[in-house]
Formats: sequence, structure tokens, C-alpha cells
Amino acid sequence: MDTKPPSPPHVVIFPFPAQGHVNSMLKLTELLLEASLNITFLISAKDHDRLARFTTVHSHLNSYSGHFRFHVIHGLYEGPMVTEEQQSLIMAESLPKVVGPLLRNLLLDSQVTCLIADGFTDFPLDAAQGTGVPVISFRTISACAFWAYFSVPELIESGDLPIQGTNLDERILSLKGMEGFLRRRDLPSFCRSDINNKIFQQITRISRRTTEAHALLINTFDDLEGPIISQIQQHCPNIYTIGPLHAHLKARTSSKTTSSNSLFEEDKTCITWLDQKAPKSVLYVSFGSLATVTREQLMEFWYGLVNSGKLFLWVIREDLVLKQDDENKVPIELEEGTKERGYMVGWAPQEEVLAHPAVGAFLTHNGWNSTLESIVEGVPMISWPYFADQQINSRFVEAVWKLGLDMKDTCDRTIIEKTIKEVMEERKMEFIESANRMARLAKESINEGGSSYGNLNRLVEDIKMMGIGSK
Ligand code: UDX
Repeated sequence: MDTKPPSPPHVVIFPFPAQGHVNSMLKLTELLLEASLNITFLISAKDHDRLARFTTVHSHLNSYSGHFRFHVIHGLYEGPMVTEEQQSLIMAESLPKVVGPLLRNLLLDSQVTCLIADGFTDFPLDAAQGTGVPVISFRTISACAFWAYFSVPELIESGDLPIQGTNLDERILSLKGMEGFLRRRDLPSFCRSDINNKIFQQITRISRRTTEAHALLINTFDDLEGPIISQIQQHCPNIYTIGPLHAHLKARTSSKTTSSNSLFEEDKTCITWLDQKAPKSVLYVSFGSLATVTREQLMEFWYGLVNSGKLFLWVIREDLVLKQDDENKVPIELEEGTKERGYMVGWAPQEEVLAHPAVGAFLTHNGWNSTLESIVEGVPMISWPYFADQQINSRFVEAVWKLGLDMKDTCDRTIIEKTIKEVMEERKMEFIESANRMARLAKESINEGGSSYGNLNRLVEDIKMMGIGSK
């Protein structure tokens, strides 16, 4: 008689190779490891190397005694991905060519229970076809952004797209659940392009194909996006909302240390700087891992920050500012204002920064991870969305969740100064109260009895059932 215990289900996880995606999928990985599943995590050679250099994630995940392994992908495009064109190129060419066959072999040759693939691409659905391995699609963006991507065919049918004329303040009436507050300018950035172009078609096709997946995972929570999740559910009935993942992981591993998932080297000196500042006195400024600004925009932000008179901690990534030939000299008033009230780093330990009592507001591009991290810590936001999902996230921040103010489509020192003062002075208490309320709901969702807590348990049980079904 075979007395060997059955081996745990084996899940293959594939993130799109960019910080925001790798980050949230590693958090999910650890949550599944906590539930004793086996994980193979596909990662580009470049990201693997960066994680090894800047984090302890390798040893951390290996501490799940033999349940985890990285599968390193060589030969992927490693150039910049700061424009939608560059992202589209890797989605359409490099990933399907390099990862497609690799994924298929993995699914055919190893005992894989299910594949959790980044829903930002659709080739994993093709790679899994005929293998009998169910694919769970993981969208690392908000439910509201995904729903907008998904609804593009209806927006075209109703005439809301393509955008006619130049009035971006016109209301969008055909996006279900957002009729009362959505304007053209709040649609995902690709909606401003020609609907016949390649990126537009690609994003629309990929989003729509989510219905072919076995299930949909979203890094969000029901109290934040319930009405929109219900809309998506009419097309993708099997949804697991399990976020905010970073906080969910901390809640389930409270006795353990966690590791950062940064692909850049964190400068922790900013924490010492924050330690000396009064509660809620500092504005934290960061535009995530991909956004770039022109030198002109940089100067507008810089003047806006200095003129606001507030303390500020600003992440200036090495590649944040697009190189231009013009003069790089910094005006004396900015130099002095920064010396007095500012601190700059190349990359911050962001979760720790947002949790610091000295931080009073976050000037953010509203990437989805940054937005959730701010929500969990109850930090009001000033939004300056750059591209993709960020335009719609920032509209929800201001108009639906009332967590801050949206400066999209402007970059003017006077507006920046005024908005900072409004969020950190004039309407400070109003924003702090709504941010605290949402932070409480976020925490409730990931604690025992909460919606995300229950959904994660359901996900683990469902994966275990898939394992039994395939034996
Ligand atoms: C982008 C998208 O806009 C995002 O919505 C999508 O889900 C993934 O791709 P990105 O622009 O990098 O991602 O933003 P964001 O999702 O906010 O992720 C950035 C991550 O880097 C966050 O987890 C943040 O904590 C971290 N970070 C950022 C740092 O650790 N230090 C920093 O200095 C800046």
C-alpha cells in the first residue's frame, strides 16, 4: 500500500515583468505558501538579479522549506517600458515568443495544478490550451480600471469612443456603474488614442479574453469597489477579491519578518529624516517605477512643493526625468527651499514611509499598488496620474472615495501649491477622516471574517479541489 501523503497542489505564477506586477504577485505567492501550496514563480533574468541585489526575498521565500522555486526566464526584452508603445511591444512580441513555449512545456511536463497568470497579457491562455491546466487570471490593477478596459466595446457601440472633439470634461454615460461622475479625461489613457491603433486593439482584446479564464483574481476589497465588482461578475462569475495583498500578507504572517520586493535599491536614510518630523507634517512624493517627467514638469513640481511651505520627501528615480539638452542648473530658491524642508531619495522603502506617523499626504501617480498602500495607512492623496489605469484610479480617489484631490492633465506650480495646501491645511481633517474610515474597512477585509480573508481561503480550497480533480 502506498502510504506517501499526497503532494500539495503546485501553482505556477507568471507576472508581467515590471515592478508593480512582480510586487503584488510575490505577495500572493507568499500567501499561497503560507497555505502550504507549492509555487513555481516565473521571473525575468533582470528582475531575478535585481531582487537578489536589493532584497532578501530569495532566502525569505526559500524558508518555506522546499515549497518555492524561481524559474528564471532568459532572453526577454530588457529595454525601457515607460511608454504604452514599449509595453505593447513586449506584450505582443517578446513575451509570447519567449515565455509562451516555456510555459507550455512547464504545464505539460510538470504536475501543475493551476496557472495564475498576469491578466495584462493573454498568451498564457493560449499556452495552457489543451493541457488541462486551469488558468486563473490575476489583474494587478483596480476593479474600476479593469471594468473600463473590459467595457471598451460597449463604449464604442454607444459612441462614447472614439473621443470626438477636444472637450475632455464631457461625461461618459455608457460605462455601467460610473455614469454619475466619469468624464472623458478619466478613462484609461489609451482611450485617448485612435481606436484602430494596435495598442488600443490589443488592450481591448486581452481584457475581453478574461472571460476564458477559469477565474479572476483582483487585488482589491469589496468595501472599496463592491458595485464595480458586481458589474464584472456578470461577465466573469468566479472572482476572488483578496486585497489589499501587502496588508493581507502582513496580517497572516504577523509573527514573521517580511521582505521588500523592490527592483531598485531602497534608501532607508529617509526614515531617519522622517523620525525627526512632527506627525502628519510631511508630503511624500513618488510617481512609481515607470512614470517619467520632462525637465519642465520637474521644475513645476519643484516650485509647487517649495512654495507650499510644507516638508516633503521626494522620490527622484534615476530615470524619472527625461534627458534634455537645456540647462540643468537648479535655481537658488529651490536649492534653499529643499535644504530647509525637503529630502530626496532615488527609491524609498515606500510601505514603511507611508506607515510613518510623520507622513500627512501622498502626491502620487495612483499606480494601483501605491493607491492601496496609501489607503491601508489612511494617508490622503494628491493625484497626478501618468498613464494606463492611473487616470481612472485618480477619479475614484477624488469623486468616489473622497480620499484626496486629482490634478490630472495639469502641471502647474500654482495648482500644485494650492492643491497641497488644500489637502494638508484647509480640508485636512475632512480628508484624514475619510482616509481613516477607508483604512479601517481595508483592515477589516483582511482580518478573520472579512471579505478578502474569506475569498483567499476559498481560493486555496478551490485550488486544492483542482488538484484532486486532476489526479
Ligand atoms: C504600474 C501601474 O500603474 C499599476 O497600477 C499596475 O498595477 C502596475 O504597473 P507602477 O507605476 O510601478 O505600476 O506603480 P505602482 O503600482 O504604484 O507600484 C509601485 C510599487 O513600487 C509600489 O508597491 C511601491 O511601494 C513601490 N515603490 C515605489 C517603492 O518601494 N519605492 C519607491 O520609491 C517607489
